Amino acid sequence: MRHLMNALDLSVEDVDELITLAEKIIKEPTRYSEVCKGKKLATCFYESSTRTRLSFESAMLNLGGQVLGFSSADSSSASKGESVADTIRVISGYADICAMRHPKEGAPYVASLHSSIPVINAGDGGHNHPTQTLTDLLTIKNLKGRLDNLTIGLCGDLKFGRTVHSLIEAMVRYSNVKFVMISPPELKIPDYLRKDTLDAGGIEYKEVNVLEDVLPELDILYMTRVQRERFFNEEDYIRLKDSFILDAPKMKLAPEDMLVLHPLPRVNEISTDVDDDPRAVYFKQAQYGVYIRMALIITLLEVSNQC
Ligand code: CP
Repeated sequence: MRHLMNALDLSVEDVDELITLAEKIIKEPTRYSEVCKGKKLATCFYESSTRTRLSFESAMLNLGGQVLGFSSADSSSASKGESVADTIRVISGYADICAMRHPKEGAPYVASLHSSIPVINAGDGGHNHPTQTLTDLLTIKNLKGRLDNLTIGLCGDLKFGRTVHSLIEAMVRYSNVKFVMISPPELKIPDYLRKDTLDAGGIEYKEVNVLEDVLPELDILYMTRVQRERFFNEEDYIRLKDSFILDAPKMKLAPEDMLVLHPLPRVNEISTDVDDDPRAVYFKQAQYGVYIRMALIITLLEVSNQC
């Protein structure tokens, strides 16, 4: 049985297969509308979510399966002290596959050790969010046509933003990918990522703190929100939260074919006057999340022979 804890659990070939399947689903969704008939997905969300939980549920419903689950720790027996290990043992008898989000790093991994069904990490603290990374890769591949030869700007909270960390780790596996990190000094990428992934891999990157200066050189701009829930003090959050705001005048500095991605939710970091710009693809990106999760469910449940 396979679980998914980290995007790097998947080889580049595995990722390519998932993207190819997702692209087939986009072209011909009805062909896949019954492949999970009789199967159930449990969404065990100990932390709030709109996109990840609902796109998992939408994905399973699109495949003809059914869904059950809880959307907060308070509405589950975690509030009475039940462990993740006991919970997944029970859920294994109720469902065929489980997507789990938890505020504690490693909790979905602990669940996977006690599970008899595939467990997908739907975000664990500041650690990993592999299905967001797969969503980002599908969005870039489908809209840009390639995953190599790209200059990617990462802007905002690069310290706590787990989606940024996973995206860097996933993208360094493609050739000629360069990064421009745009953040306040306090929210730079963690040292381990700079040292173990970028420096060790000989990846070209630079760290800057003015967005306007680098916009003309980007193929992709990946905006992120400052992660209030990971800050230890509110004063720092308030000081840093509006460090970068992408708006229509700044978009004039960007190339005609640059894409703006954001894992969402956004707070202030992208002005709504950017939303109608054809380069703003963050709502499309959220839609791609359904297709890649459909491909992942098909793959982990090994029903792809019916596709
Ligand atoms: N992108 C993302 O993980 O959104 P949610 O927190 O709404 O699931």
